[in-house]
Amino acid sequence: MGEQMRAQAGQPGVLKGQPGVLRNKVAVITGATSGIGAATAAVFLAEGASVVIGGRRKDVGEALAAELGPRARFTAADVRVEADVEALMATAVDEFGGLDVLVNNAGVGVAKPLPLPEADYAAFLDTLAVHAGGMFLGIKHAARIMVPRGSGSIINMSSIGGHRAGWSDISYSTAKAGVHQLTRSAAVELGLRGIRVNSISPGPIPTGIFAKNAGVDADRADRTAAALEPLFVEALASHQSLRRAGRVEDVAAAALWLASDASSFVTGQDLGVDGGIAAGRPISVAVTERRLLAEAFSSLPD
Ligand SMILES: NC(=O)c1ccc[n+]([C@@H]2O[C@H](COP(=O)([O-])OP(=O)(O)OC[C@H]3O[C@@H](n4cnc5c(N)ncnc54)[C@H](OP(=O)(O)O)[C@@H]3O)[C@@H](O)[C@H]2O)c1
Repeated sequence: MGEQMRAQAGQPGVLKGQPGVLRNKVAVITGATSGIGAATAAVFLAEGASVVIGGRRKDVGEALAAELGPRARFTAADVRVEADVEALMATAVDEFGGLDVLVNNAGVGVAKPLPLPEADYAAFLDTLAVHAGGMFLGIKHAARIMVPRGSGSIINMSSIGGHRAGWSDISYSTAKAGVHQLTRSAAVELGLRGIRVNSISPGPIPTGIFAKNAGVDADRADRTAAALEPLFVEALASHQSLRRAGRVEDVAAAALWLASDASSFVTGQDLGVDGGIAAGRPISVAVTERRLLAEAFSSLPD
C-alpha cells in the first residue's frame, strides 16, 4: 500500500463534513489487490465500511487484507468464474452480515494491440469476459443479496476508452463501452428495488496495469507504478486540461461518493474522472494550431 493510501486509511472525512460516511456498510471490491481497487478499499475502510477485497493473487490479497486491518477480508476470485464471484459476495454476508456496496473494478489491459487482420479472437473474448462478463456476474450475485434488503449501490469501473476510440485496444474499448449500457440496463431494473447502479470512467491513471500489459511481473508493475507520473503528465499535455496526472485516490474519492448516501438520487450515470479529457482538448492546443495556420496562410503567395 502506498504512503498516501496508508495515510487515508487512518483519516476519515474525505467527503468534507461527513466523517464515516460508510459507517456500518459492507462493501465488496473486485480486483482490489492493487491500483484503483486497493486505494478504494483503503478509503472505504477509513470511512467506516467493512470491505471484502477480491483478486486472483492470493498471497498479495491476504497480505493487503492483513495490512488494512480487522474490517478487511480477502477472497481469491477470478471474475470470469461465476462460482468465484458468488463466493466473493458470500464472504461479505458470512463475515460482515450483508452487502451494501459492490465496486466492479477488476480489469486487465491488452498486451499488444495487433492490427485487425491479425487480431486474436480468443483474446478479444477474454477481454470481454473480464470487463463486461465479470461485471455482469458481480451485478447478478450482488443483486441476489441486495434485492431482498431493498437497497445497495453498485459501481462499475469503466474508462475513457469506453467513450473514445483510440485510447486503448479495440477489445478493451468495446468491453468498456459495454459497461456503460450494462450500467444503465441494470440501473433501470434494480432502481425499482432500491438499488443504484453507476459507473466511473477514469482517464489514464498511473497504476501497474500499463507495465503488466508490457509483460512486467505483476508485483513489480504495482510497486513501480507511481514512477510513471511524470511520463503521464507529458504524454497527456495535449489531451487533458488539468495539469497533473490522475491518481488512484481521485478515482477512489469518486467511488466513495457513489457508494455513499450523498449520491442517493443518482443512478444509471457515468462519472468521468479524467482531468477534462472527455470534455475536449485543452484550448492551448487549438490556439497553437490557429497560430500555425495563420503563419502558413501569411506565407502563401497571392
Ligand atoms: N489505470 C488506468 O489508467 C485506468 C483507466 C481507466 C480504467 N481503468 C480500470 O480500472 C480498473 C482497475 O485497474 P488499475 O489501473 O487499478 O490496474 P491494476 O492495478 O492492474 O488492477 C487491476 C486489478 O484487477 C485484478 N484482476 C485482473 N484480472 C482479474 C480477473 N480475471 N479476476 C479478478 N481480478 C482480476 C487484479 O488483481 P489480480 O492480478 O490479483 O487478479 C488487480 O487487482 C480496471 O477495470 C481498469 O480497466 C484503469
